[in-house]
Amino acid sequence: MTRYSRITGTGSYLPPRRLTNADLAAELASQGVETSDEWIVERTGIRARHFAAADVSSSDLGVEAAKHALEAAGLQASDIDLIIVATSTPDMVFPSAACILQNKLGIAGCAAFDVQAVCSGFVYALTVADAMIKTGSANKALVIGAEVFSRILDFSDRTTCVLFGDGAGAVVLEASETPGILASDLHADGKHVGILCVPGHVSGGKVLGQPLLKMDGQAVFKLAVGVLESAARATLAKANLTDADIDWLIPHQANIRIMQSTAKKLKMPLEKLIVTVDQHGNTSAASIPLALDTAVRSGKIKKGDTLMLEGVGGGFTWGAVLLNY
Ligand code: ACO
Repeated sequence: MTRYSRITGTGSYLPPRRLTNADLAAELASQGVETSDEWIVERTGIRARHFAAADVSSSDLGVEAAKHALEAAGLQASDIDLIIVATSTPDMVFPSAACILQNKLGIAGCAAFDVQAVCSGFVYALTVADAMIKTGSANKALVIGAEVFSRILDFSDRTTCVLFGDGAGAVVLEASETPGILASDLHADGKHVGILCVPGHVSGGKVLGQPLLKMDGQAVFKLAVGVLESAARATLAKANLTDADIDWLIPHQANIRIMQSTAKKLKMPLEKLIVTVDQHGNTSAASIPLALDTAVRSGKIKKGDTLMLEGVGGGFTWGAVLLNY
């Protein structure tokens, strides 16, 4: 019998501190940085984001999302035999956020590791978990995207600091006799490292370089629009499906203009595009599972729907996962 993997529960968590564009603009103005709600909404579609308190880490956000996903799947933490956390803002240099989160869930023994593919992290992590389930290495996995991007923002750079937020999303992925994940397609091109990076590292007990996010927004925009279409088409081809088979498109939530352009290229009406970037900003690896959980809990996404998840981000990395929910 063919072994597949299937999402059986979703969950998410946002830190309570919510800043509208007006709130953020007022904070930035006090530091001499000028921006406006109008500029942010028009260029990005973002209206608000959440920022975690200084003592809250990615694993703190991730564990709350994981608990909600476990509850939705009707499982206990002790049922889980694999934890993958997608994050670029882990709690420590090491050990992984996944190991820290495992301990916070009160379990031990199962495999736990992080995946670092920036905003493509969740589709990378989901693809790895799917492969481990299909080959029999795992039966019940927690796949989590969790980020505290507010820690790596340069609040003197208005071209980037207005774009990002903190949060976490999670899914439980279980072995199943029916699909589930239908196909996935992952890519990277390291020659674009410089267009989106946090160019710092730890050495000799010090942080060297510039551990703050730097982005060439226009270069990222151009690359993103192209690769999101090609990854979706490659994934559909692997599953022998077409654009018309997609019920819901859940792209990485970075910029409404990139998302709408992808939907148009896939000939999808905008009503089929799941949008949470307006309320969450860009939460990097957390954005797709946050959007998925929001759409599931609002009743938009129903059991049996076909979903196209798409990530794109620093690396440059990109990828898509097509699945039957
Ligand atoms: N408020 C007000 N004005 C601003 C702001 C701001 N926050 N930021 C920039 N401006 C000004 C600029 O100074 C510039 O002014 P000028 O014309 O007087 O020089 C003007 O607005 C236009 O700036 P651009 O950078 O050209 O604006 P653009 O239309 O390219 O939009 C943006 C910038 C929103 C960043 C866009 O390029 C974009 O969305 N790119 C994709 C980013 C993205 O998706 N990143 C996430 C990838 S995922 C990951 O891996 C993290």
